[in-house]
Amino acid sequence: MSNEIHQEPSTELILTEVQADGVAIITLNNGKVNALSVELLNELQQAATALSLDASIRAVVITGNGRAFAAGADITQFAQGTPEGEFGLSSPERITQIGTAFLGALNAVAALPCPSIAAVSGVALGGGCELALACDFRLASGSARFGQPEILLGIIPGGGGTQRLSRLVGSSVAKELIFSGRMILADEALRIGLVNRIVEPDQVLAEATAWAQSLAAGPQHALRLAKSAIDQGLEGSLEDGLLLEQNLFVESFTTPDAAVGVQSFLSDGPGHANFA
Ligand code: COA
Repeated sequence: MSNEIHQEPSTELILTEVQADGVAIITLNNGKVNALSVELLNELQQAATALSLDASIRAVVITGNGRAFAAGADITQFAQGTPEGEFGLSSPERITQIGTAFLGALNAVAALPCPSIAAVSGVALGGGCELALACDFRLASGSARFGQPEILLGIIPGGGGTQRLSRLVGSSVAKELIFSGRMILADEALRIGLVNRIVEPDQVLAEATAWAQSLAAGPQHALRLAKSAIDQGLEGSLEDGLLLEQNLFVESFTTPDAAVGVQSFLSDGPGHANFA
């Protein structure tokens, strides 16, 4: 299959590129550290929602332009000057708007039906770490740094950090990171299960794209059902999760993937199915 790239109509803050093999690459494009402003988050929500609705998209990579994945919420939006030129925190209404933008964008990323990979170079801090957590996988440069430093600003995470980080690495490790606000390097992130793979700094996007391409060549219907079973199952009790899995297991037999995969196994043995 040719792998031409076409640029989706994109805005300044989010660039979306779709390859012919069904891999989409979302690039955060906001200044020195890709601060996650309300404007960027709104555009990210739109981009992720559009990709969710596009049945030809089979895997998504999210990455950052420049030296950072993302340094978190745009801290300049947390404060506003008074008419007298004094410091003032933003109003509760403005902070609610920021929180709502995070919830909308990161939930839209988490709701991508196909596999998603955060390709992390530089820092993934605060909302940047939370965005990476909304993806299925995190692939990082050996020099990448992760953390939830909100506590150092006297606030707490507002983009899912207390929830998604705890579910991924366990509540005790999550509390240690969130209560201290300390940054960790990629090797520690790998050890605690926050990162899946570490690669050479100049290979981050290439390796993430190659991983996405191998997922895109897989059984897309089965992958979507498996993602759904895991993500939705974790939201409820074990009993409910097992029932959900049972229903989706049965549903998987109604997709073309099952016909291709089972027939291929019975005629050619394991590992020969072509799901393209
Ligand atoms: N929001 C807005 N601007 C930010 C930012 C953020 N989250 N993080 C960094 N910046 C800006 C800095 O103000 C600086 O701007 P300037 O060049 O106009 O002065 C620029 O990005 C570069 O940051 P700087 O601190 O000079 O670079 P550095 O390489 O020494 O450190 C970071 C980079 C990301 C480690 C550091 O800036 C940092 O810790 N940022 C805050 C992270 C954070 O607390 N995120 C959670 C937010 S809730």
